[in-house]
Amino acid sequence: MTVDSDAVTSTVRISDFVLGLPKCEMHLHLDGTLEPSMKLDLARRNNIEIPQSTTAQIRESFRFHDLPTFLAVHYSNMNVLWTSRDYEDLAYSYLQISAQQNVRHTEMFFDPQLHTSRGVPFPDIVNGYRRAIVRARIDFGMSAELIMCFLRDYTAEYAMATLMEALPYKDWIIGVGLDSDELDHPPAEFSEVFARARSEGFLVTMHCDVDQVDSAEHIRQAIADLHSNRIDHGLNVLDDPDLVIAAREKGLGFTVCPLGYGTHPCGMAPELERIHAMLEAGLKVSVGSDDPPYFGGYLAENLQACIDVGGFTEAELVTISRNAFETAWVSERRRVELLEELDDYARRHGLPA
Ligand code: HPA
Ligand code: ZN
Repeated sequence: MTVDSDAVTSTVRISDFVLGLPKCEMHLHLDGTLEPSMKLDLARRNNIEIPQSTTAQIRESFRFHDLPTFLAVHYSNMNVLWTSRDYEDLAYSYLQISAQQNVRHTEMFFDPQLHTSRGVPFPDIVNGYRRAIVRARIDFGMSAELIMCFLRDYTAEYAMATLMEALPYKDWIIGVGLDSDELDHPPAEFSEVFARARSEGFLVTMHCDVDQVDSAEHIRQAIADLHSNRIDHGLNVLDDPDLVIAAREKGLGFTVCPLGYGTHPCGMAPELERIHAMLEAGLKVSVGSDDPPYFGGYLAENLQACIDVGGFTEAELVTISRNAFETAWVSERRRVELLEELDDYARRHGLPA
C-alpha cells in the first residue's frame, strides 16, 4: 500500500521546531485519512468501480465549502473500504505519517456506522484498526487509542445499537464521540446513549462545530447535561462568558483544527484569532488535523499554520502540546513520560518547561 508523495508535506514548509515538537493528536477521523493513492489501491484490490482513475482526479474531487458539502464528499469515498486489512492499512498509514511528525500519542475517531450501514461487520473494522495500533506501538514506540463516534444525523436508537455492538470491544475503545452534520442534531438528542456509554466506562467527547445554529447552546448541553470530558472544535465557547468559566474550572479540553477552518470564505485567520483568545482565557486548547487529505495537512501542517497565519509563538505551541498531554486519555504513568519529553524539548530550545 503506497502513500501519496504529497500527502505529508503539502506545500507548507514545516520548521524543524514544529517537526521535532513532541505532539499529541486527539481530533483525527480515521475514516477521513483516506489519501487519493490509497483510494485507488483499495478500489483495485476490492474490484470497486470509482469515477476517477488518477490521484490527481481524486484530489480534484475534494471540493466543498461547508460542513455538509465536506461530509458528502468524504462519505462518498467510504465505499472502497471493506475488509479488516483495508482498515488496518488505512490506520497504519496515518500512524506512520504521524510518527514521522513526532506524534507521540494519538486518539483516533472512527465512525462504524459509515461502514456497518453498508454491510461491513463491526468486528472487521475494530480488529483492523487494533492491529495497526499494536504495530505502531512496536514499530514507532507511539501510543494510540480509538474513540468511537456516533453519526448525529442518524437516530439515537441506531447509536444505541452501535454502542451495544461495541461492548465486547470495550478494552480497545477508550471513549465515544459525536460527529457529522450538527444542524437540528443537538447533543441532548443523544443523552441516553452517552449516559449508558459513561456507565459502561467509556470517556466522552463530542463535536460542537464552528458557527453552527445554536453552537453555544450545544456546548452548554455537552458540558452541563452530557458531562463531556472534552469538546471537539468548540470555538463558540467564547460567545458566552459563563461557558468559558465553566470550561476553565473543569479543565475541559478543546480539540481545534486550524486547516479545517480554511474552507471559510475569509480563510482561517479569524478562527486562529479565536483559538488564541481561548488560550489566553486559560482554556486547555490542543490542535488536531481532523481529516488531513481534505484539509491539506497532518498535525505538523496544522501547527505550522498557527505560526504562519495566526502568529503563534513557539512557547504557545509548547503550551498546546502540554494541554494535549494533560487532557489526553492516558495512564498517569504515560502522562508523566510524555510531559517529561515535552519539558526536555522546551528546555533544549530555551523555552519555559
Ligand atoms: N465535524 C463533523 N463531522 C465530521 C468532522 C467534523 O469536523 N470530520 C469528520 N466528520
Ligand atoms: Zn472532526
